[in-house]
Amino acid sequence: MYRFDVCVIGGCGRVGLPLSIAFADRGLKVVVYDTDKDRIDKVRAGTMPFREEGCEEKLRRVIYRTLTTADSPHSISESQFVVVAIGTPIDSHLNPDFCGMLGFFKGLLPYLTPDQYVILRSTVYPGTTEKLDRFLKGSGARTHLAFCPERIAEGKALSELMTLPQIVSACDEECTQVVSDLFRVLTQDIVVLQPMEAELAKLFSNAWRYIQFSIANQFFLLANDAGLDYSRIHHAITHKYPRTQGLPKPGFAAGPCLLKDTMQLAAFSNNDFFLGHTAVLVNEGLPNYVVQKMKAETDLANRNVGILGMAFKANSDDERDSLSFKLKALLEVEAKKVYCSDPHVRRDYFVDPEQLVAMCDVIVLATPHDEYRNLHIAEDRMLIDIWNLYGRGVICPPRTDTSTRSDYRGIMAEIVHGALKARGNPIADEAKVLAR
Ligand SMILES: NC(=O)c1ccc[n+]([C@@H]2O[C@H](COP(=O)([O-])OP(=O)(O)OC[C@H]3O[C@@H](n4cnc5c(N)ncnc54)[C@H](O)[C@@H]3O)[C@@H](O)[C@H]2O)c1
Repeated sequence: MYRFDVCVIGGCGRVGLPLSIAFADRGLKVVVYDTDKDRIDKVRAGTMPFREEGCEEKLRRVIYRTLTTADSPHSISESQFVVVAIGTPIDSHLNPDFCGMLGFFKGLLPYLTPDQYVILRSTVYPGTTEKLDRFLKGSGARTHLAFCPERIAEGKALSELMTLPQIVSACDEECTQVVSDLFRVLTQDIVVLQPMEAELAKLFSNAWRYIQFSIANQFFLLANDAGLDYSRIHHAITHKYPRTQGLPKPGFAAGPCLLKDTMQLAAFSNNDFFLGHTAVLVNEGLPNYVVQKMKAETDLANRNVGILGMAFKANSDDERDSLSFKLKALLEVEAKKVYCSDPHVRRDYFVDPEQLVAMCDVIVLATPHDEYRNLHIAEDRMLIDIWNLYGRGVICPPRTDTSTRSDYRGIMAEIVHGALKARGNPIADEAKVLAR
């Protein structure tokens, strides 16, 4: 009866496209509908519009076979399942935007057919699914509505779609069964919840991750303010100690989901979600902290500062809500000049990392992309590496005055030399030079 099994609206997005490819790869007939013409053109050409492990190879395999594209909404009516994977940003007051989703569903009404299954995949504010179900029924649509949240980590979508359990919730029992069967094409592990439980489960998962990052950052701030290298403490507390294995490393924590979803919970709790709010203060405050510390240590107004990594996380090309851009904005007020670089994000004004390192007195490793591992950064540059990618320790800012360090090295060299000489060791003189 239907031409397609699944239509994914927002099907060229970071959530929609990997899901479409995964369904198509399992043999379902999938149509992706998206309003972004550039992305549609790329997908038609078998090119991924963004980095996502293993996706391009599979896209090339399924395009024009089990996967087709549409830039008009008519194919919605030709599909048994309609997956909604459009973006759901918070508004400029950091509040959830229910009207945006309601407006989208109003536009959807002319294309819906009786007994179709609409699956909300976008992250939504608690209560949205049931409100939309009432709206659909009130408008005479006989469509079934489900909410099945996406819980993948960007970059790992394809493998996680097949390995993570899928949470399924729906507004009626039949829909729960039919939609569970659809997702069994990808994973056998289905967890059924009521819609509002599922909406909260998704938001709790993201807020949990965001709070984990904030405790890591708070520990770093405490140790750093005491003049200590936090990397040594982090190693000690996570080394073979099972109860701290989930403690992430400190560093910029942002992106399009974690802050937004924490703020949705804040709104849901009438602004009583104090752990969430505190996490926002700590994570969003980290770039300001870095700038203030740099300012206290060096004459920033006469320094060129370079930012390595503009994506919101390592090895990603997603720049949405990246704290690197916040850092750039803060530095533009304080520093002589700011240079930026990223191997995956493109901007006309970005420079090569080697150029950046050569031109800047102060370098901040904002996003620890693998490409930066072998980048040579001279010892005389002030390097702020909260991730400790370069193994020089996590001190912000690092001491520019190395005289104390040289004194210490000199004393150590004398001790080593004396001890070896007393034992008649022939490499005593050589060891003294090395110790320095
Ligand atoms: N990115 C993630 O890792 C992730 C993970 C879990 C959940 N989510 C949630 O999934 C949703 C989508 O996020 P995303 O990262 O994929 O966003 P995205 O911006 O990459 O994708 C959204 C896509 O929807 C398209 N679109 C927007 N309005 C449309 C419309 N009216 N009709 C057709 N297409 C339309 C856009 O052109 C875009 O291609 C959000 O609610 C987000 O919170 C994202």
